[in-house]
Amino acid sequence: MTRAHWYPPPSRQTEQRCIELFESTYGGAPDGVWSAPGRVNLIGEHVDYVGGICVPFALGERTWAAVRSRTDGILQVASGQLNAPWYGHIDHIAPGRPDGWAAYPAGVVWAMRQEGLLPAEFGGADVAVYSEVPLGAGLSSSAALECALAVALADLHGGGSGEPGSERRSALVKACMRAENEIALAMTGGLDQAVALHARAGYCLRLDCDSEEMQQVPLPLERHHLEILVINTNAPHQLVDGQYAQRRASVDRAAQLLGMRTLRQAFSVEVTLARLVELGEDSPELLRRVRHAISETARAGTAARLLAEDRLLELGPLLNASHASLRDDYEISCVELDTAVDASLEAGALGARLVGGGFGGSAIALVHDTDVEKVAEAVASAAAARELAEPSFLLAEVSAAAG
Ligand code: GLA
Repeated sequence: MTRAHWYPPPSRQTEQRCIELFESTYGGAPDGVWSAPGRVNLIGEHVDYVGGICVPFALGERTWAAVRSRTDGILQVASGQLNAPWYGHIDHIAPGRPDGWAAYPAGVVWAMRQEGLLPAEFGGADVAVYSEVPLGAGLSSSAALECALAVALADLHGGGSGEPGSERRSALVKACMRAENEIALAMTGGLDQAVALHARAGYCLRLDCDSEEMQQVPLPLERHHLEILVINTNAPHQLVDGQYAQRRASVDRAAQLLGMRTLRQAFSVEVTLARLVELGEDSPELLRRVRHAISETARAGTAARLLAEDRLLELGPLLNASHASLRDDYEISCVELDTAVDASLEAGALGARLVGGGFGGSAIALVHDTDVEKVAEAVASAAAARELAEPSFLLAEVSAAAG
């Protein structure tokens, strides 16, 4: 029988490891330690950049950043997970420079300076980061890294990082998005940064990416004897490889043809697809992409309403429909994700879907708490039977924002 591989549960020891990494790298103590969570998007996938609705929550797994100010303009970053530490002058940070993982912390410094969130006399920093958010698993380790550093720098130099829900936090969301879009050159949409900075423990964030309105909707899994099983397929997941940008370009083009600011202005799937055909755009692929964008926002809106009405047990079909749409219309699934979703459902999950950018990374399954082991074992066995990478599992803890 396959034994499922579980991640160790989140622990305050990670904070201690981060401090030790700081001390062994730079000598002496940091000015402080901050952290930001990874995330799962319950539903509303690949719609943040089309003005859609997303319903993410923060995970218990966090990325920690120990930070000490400098005065000579140098930024140094060391990571407990990735070797190659980086240092450079803050004036030399530019699009694509540095590349690799250092683009994220360096990008935050650059964007916070651009946005006036750091004073002109900001003199750089020594930074050590330690992450328990699995890297490259579609659980937003990069936004956790950005947001941990952003709250650190805002607290040390920017007049405070504010509370979740505040305008100050939204300004930090914008800076972290700019870091990712303009320095790391990943054209992502802002969902990850918003939840890392605005989440509340026990709640999903209903994020309207058109009006930018946010609402906290409860996700009381325990009261309903439910768990969200997170399945990292361990299939490599990479957002900077062009597929994400291609999807985004398709839906942007459709909105432009339709004369809409975003696809959120679209009325219904049928009317919108008919209009595109009238306008001479009849590529089946583009029409499928648009169908996903519009239908997924409708599903996310419905899911948020079910949460507000405490009808968690009814979420399953929406999760399944979301996965089917991402697989068939948006075409961002893969054999590892489909295997995890199918095996979860066969073993009794109420619903399952891929989460995050897709093309590998993680899936979630909504399961009765008594079925957790059974579903995990079934997913592990299905992967083994197909000779796929061995998946890793964790149980989602619906957690709080960066701080
Ligand atoms: C990645 C991006 C987000 C979002 C999701 C898909 O996580 O960073 O902005 O587009 O993919 O929902």
